[in-house]
Amino acid sequence: MNYDVKDLKLNAKGKDRIEWAERDMPVLRGIRARFEKKKPLKGVTIAACLHVTTETANLMRTLKAGGANAVLCASNPLSTQDDVAAALVKTYKIPVFAINGEDNKTYYKHLNAALDTNPDITMDDGADLVSVLHSKRKKQGETLLGSTEETTTGVIRLKALAAEGLLQFPVIAVNDAATKHFFDNRYGTGQSTLDGIIRATNRLIAGSIFVVSGYGWCGKGLAMRAGGHGASVVVCEVDPIRALEAVMDGFRVMPIADAAKIGDFFCTVTGDINVIRKEHFKVMKDGAIVSNSGHFNVELDLDGLKALSKSKKLIRDAVMEYTLKSNGRRIHVLAEGRLVNLACAEGHPASVMDMSFANQALGAEYLVNTAAKLENKVYVVPEKIDADIATMKLKSLGVKMDKLTKEQEIYLSSWEMGT
Ligand code: ADE
Repeated sequence: MNYDVKDLKLNAKGKDRIEWAERDMPVLRGIRARFEKKKPLKGVTIAACLHVTTETANLMRTLKAGGANAVLCASNPLSTQDDVAAALVKTYKIPVFAINGEDNKTYYKHLNAALDTNPDITMDDGADLVSVLHSKRKKQGETLLGSTEETTTGVIRLKALAAEGLLQFPVIAVNDAATKHFFDNRYGTGQSTLDGIIRATNRLIAGSIFVVSGYGWCGKGLAMRAGGHGASVVVCEVDPIRALEAVMDGFRVMPIADAAKIGDFFCTVTGDINVIRKEHFKVMKDGAIVSNSGHFNVELDLDGLKALSKSKKLIRDAVMEYTLKSNGRRIHVLAEGRLVNLACAEGHPASVMDMSFANQALGAEYLVNTAAKLENKVYVVPEKIDADIATMKLKSLGVKMDKLTKEQEIYLSSWEMGT
């Protein structure tokens, strides 16, 4: 078996942690039990490019249980948990190509190693495999059954590809499933981002001014949780509806140019480029802590910050202190502007990844069953799969709900009855 991981001796720790996460992933466990019996992915090769975490390990085990030849590479050079990579290879016999801290060249070497297995299906978090397939390995893309996509940023890239008529195969936008983005993006990002910032800095959030750039599902979760810690939360937005929503959710909304002057913590979750720039760094307070929890490390203009600085020093693990030439103020950037929740903490907790990865597993099964009938477009996860996942999650939580009466069903499907 081909693989490239840091150290197989980390296996035992990785295995224990994978099993710890598994305990909080009842939906995925249920799917795995069915997959083990029915083998719906028999003989299908799946190359996944996901953050190499304990939760992803449980997805990979599920795909393998379904009969797939599953292979994994990392979707970010800083998010790989090396003990998990070791356990996947050694205990679960699943090939992994990922090493924490790998340089750009190795990152792409690993993506290509995963694609060298000639997958029928690819699974992306950020559309990097699809991007390589559409640039460097076009021939391979012509015969691919399809792909799934985990994150908002990836879905945006894929829709751009489809809009230009270039998409070579159908894609299932796992991110757009309700059981994914309502929970993972909101509660997952909310908790794991604060976890990353706190682990990296050990600073008190209470009483601080916490600036959140972007009020999508991730921004909503982060603002809510920062507020829960006692911060005064400021939201920066470009969309009037979202800005209004932030106001009515009780947050101050202002342009980043104003927020830059008052914030103690800054975190970008926009999916866009150069959201915090030179003119903003220049006016920040001494000691400001700046991070990003969006998928790519493009949201902070770190080249601009470097140009403004007379020195930079790694003051704590993952905390780079930049001292500005103009006023001697110190700006602290976490994890080189890469997603702070995975680089400084462990990503979202298992309980929420349970639903995201249930969508991935069932999305792969759906592709195997229906890809031949699909066009080269971006599809949402079928509503039935989404509802089934929510039902399974509720069941695992021991939560019961109501059922419509016959009379209510008729009322909801009629138009005659009014005042
Ligand atoms: N994205 C965010 N959190 C994650 C996790 N725990 N595992 C995999 N991908 C993630």
